[in-house]
This record gives sequence, C-alpha cells and structure tokens, in this order.
Amino acid sequence: MAGKIASPGLMEKIVSLCKRRGFVYPNSEIYGGFQGFYDYGPLGVEMKNNLKRLWWRWMTVEHKNIVGIDGTIITHPKVWDASGHIKSFTDPLAECKGCHHRFKADDLQTQKCPECGGELSEPRNFNILVPTQIGVIEGEKTKAYLRGEACQTIYLDFKNVLDTSRLKIPFGICQIGKAFRNELTPGNFLYRMIEFEQWDLEWFVKPSEMDKWYEYWKQERMNWFQGLFTHPENLGFFEHKKLAHYAKKAFDIEYQKSPFDGKELEGIHWRADWDLSRHAKYSGKDLNYVDQETGEKYLPWIVETSGGPDRMFLFLLVDAYSQEKDRVVLKLNPKISPYKVAVFPLLANKPELVKMASRVFDLLKPMFHTAWDDRGNIGKRYFSQDEIGTPWCVTIDFQTLKDQTVTVRDRDTMKQERLRFEALPQLFCDKLK
Ligand code: GAP
Repeated sequence: MAGKIASPGLMEKIVSLCKRRGFVYPNSEIYGGFQGFYDYGPLGVEMKNNLKRLWWRWMTVEHKNIVGIDGTIITHPKVWDASGHIKSFTDPLAECKGCHHRFKADDLQTQKCPECGGELSEPRNFNILVPTQIGVIEGEKTKAYLRGEACQTIYLDFKNVLDTSRLKIPFGICQIGKAFRNELTPGNFLYRMIEFEQWDLEWFVKPSEMDKWYEYWKQERMNWFQGLFTHPENLGFFEHKKLAHYAKKAFDIEYQKSPFDGKELEGIHWRADWDLSRHAKYSGKDLNYVDQETGEKYLPWIVETSGGPDRMFLFLLVDAYSQEKDRVVLKLNPKISPYKVAVFPLLANKPELVKMASRVFDLLKPMFHTAWDDRGNIGKRYFSQDEIGTPWCVTIDFQTLKDQTVTVRDRDTMKQERLRFEALPQLFCDKLK
C-alpha cells in the first residue's frame, strides 16, 4: 500500500491546530516567544503522557529484565569530559557573507547560501552543550552542564542498579527525561528544540552477543512504532554510513513522509563498551560485570535505543491529520488520543437529559479520559471531537430516558450504533486492547 503523501501546507495546519485546540503553545508567547522552546497545553500533555506511559509499560512490563530510573538533569561536570561531549559534541556552522544568515553545514545541499545565493564562510564547529553554574558566591561557582543526552545518567547508575537488583546479563535500564542542546538551527516546530525529552533503553550484553541483540532491538522498536502509527507503511530504516569510532552499525527509525527535511524518530546505536570504559577510566571505579556462574569478568557492551517523545508526537499528528471537505480528523490510534470518549446530552436545556448524561459520564470517567460537551448542535460537537482525535462520542437523547440506550458514534467510519449504556465500559475496553 502506498504511503500517505504529505499535503501542501500541512505543517502550518498542524501548528495552527495545536495552538487553537490546546496541544502545543509557543513558549513565553506573551514576550514574543522563545525560539526552540514549546509548552504542551491541556490536550498535548494528555497525549504526550499517553505516549510516555505506553513506552514505559512496554519496556518495563512487557519485557523481561528491564528496569527504570529517573536521573538528574545536572550531573558532575566530569561526566561530560568522560563521555566525550566537551570535546566533540559540536555542530559545524556556516555563515553567508552577504545576508549573514547562519546554517548548520551538515544540512546544506550546495556551497551557496540557500537564502540569497551568496558566498558561505568556512564552517566553524560550535559545542552544543548548555552550560550552567551551580553555587551562589561569585568566584566559587562551579560550571556544570544540562545533560546533552539523557542516557548518561544510566551509565552513572549502572553499578548501583546492578548491586541493588538481581539482574543478570542481558538486561536493560530505561529512562524518560529531559535533554538540552544549543541547537544551531532550532526549528520545524517540535522536531529540533533546545529543551526536549528523550526515552532511552541501554541494553547490556555479553560482547560476543552484540550482533544478535542489535538486530533484536532494531526490529522490536520498529514493531512498537508500527503498532501506533496510523500509516505504519510510512516508517522505515535509514542506515548511517558515517559511523562513530566505536560503532559497527547505526540505524535510524524514520518517518519517511515528513513534510520537511528531518525524518529521524529514534536511533538504534551500537555503543559497545565506549561509555562504561570511559566512565571507569575517568572515575577510577571498577564497572566490570562478574558472571556469577562462570566467574567471567568483563565490561558489558551496550545496544541503545534512543528516541524522543516530542518527535513522535509531531510525526503522529502529521500521520493522523486528515481533511475531508470541512471535516478535519485526527485519526490517532485511540490509545494515544487525549480523550477516549466524549459524552453529549442531546439538549443542554433539558434537565432530565443532562442528568442522564451525567450518569453516563460518571460511569466512564474513572476508566477512560472522558470529555463533556453540551454546546451547539450535535454535528458541531462531532466535528470538534474529530479535530482532536476523540475516537468515540456518546449521545444521550429522549430514547435513552425510555430504554437506557445511547448512540455511540465512531470517529473514522462516522457510523452510529445503539446500545444500553451499561455496556459502554466493556465496549471501550475491548476496543482499546
Ligand atoms: N543517547 C543517544 C542520543 O542522544 P541522538 O540521536 O542525538 O542520540 C536521540 O538523539 C533522539 O532524541 C532523536 O532520535 C530524537 O528523537 C531526539 N532528539 C534529539 N535532538 C532533539 C531535538 N533537538 N529536539 C527534539 N528531539 C530531539
């Protein structure tokens, strides 16, 4: 099946919908905004939390041998020396000698300025770690960094997790948390921000089993994404040819129908023993793993899966956005939709309908995130819920008062069925499985 083709102006429509319906707002908007920073609004935070809950559950409940941590954003400054970020976490920047626009040299397709065709300067490297200072007394402040990649705290806690759990290799430590990068060209909405979130799995293996586990996680992660996107055929792998010195392979999982240049959703990284060996060297601590059965002692190798809930959020909206005449529908997987159900009394000025609808709302609310709408006519209410991706709408009308049945309308097919309201919890549970 051919993938969905991104329609012209799609990004503008999505950015506008996000603002209008409370998914995402520009940060500090009353001060004119702050480039590279965004806030999630009431619907956005629900949707993003759904994504993070799904990821966390899948990692820690549905896989054996994976535990989670929640590390700090600021760590000992030596961490970034050891990790190599102070020396080489850089992006090359080229400036146009004519119009003085700046470009990330890696993104340039030609030697000329894409804005005015002018001559570009030689690219210069800039470190993209975000520095900060800890302490209050001038002269005694310590320079530290906001973490440039969230995974470093997992390596720092590796020995603690090992000592306080019964994990045996192969095992994984996962985490969801903020990371910060002074991106040279923040842009494309949530795609490249300065403050963003990452979800990482660091999977520790015996070096001789690295190939097997690398392939395993590459496929597992693809399966997970495919199960959640509206058009899974739009996802694919990209193989990096330029590899880090410790990597034998590097693949990205991409959203291949992106309406702009960037496509990367997640990286599957072959980190080998780079991180643990560097932290062992810089800290002077023994980070070896000892196999209790064979007595073998070694530094485990690492397969990393490192992605971002913000990019997934953005590409899910791109993938789910659909316009049918004047009806805009977010055909999101119901597990991801901010609301699962919306409940409507047919008429807001009939107390008996409102009372019955409140009963239905109270039945559903503890189990499913449920919206209430009693404004305007039913058609407008359906359109309003379609636009935010609510999969099912339940209407309480005069028939309900006679036989306790309600209509359930499906977002994607627009079909309606009538059933007793007590059957709703089971119906939605089955649909959400
Ligand atoms: N620990 C490995 C690591 O950080 P990365 O490829 O630099 O690898 C992993 O980042 C993921 O983090 C990316 O695939 C993307 O989803 C997300 N990410 C990276 N930079 C980002 C940014 N500036 N804004 C939003 N998400 C970003």
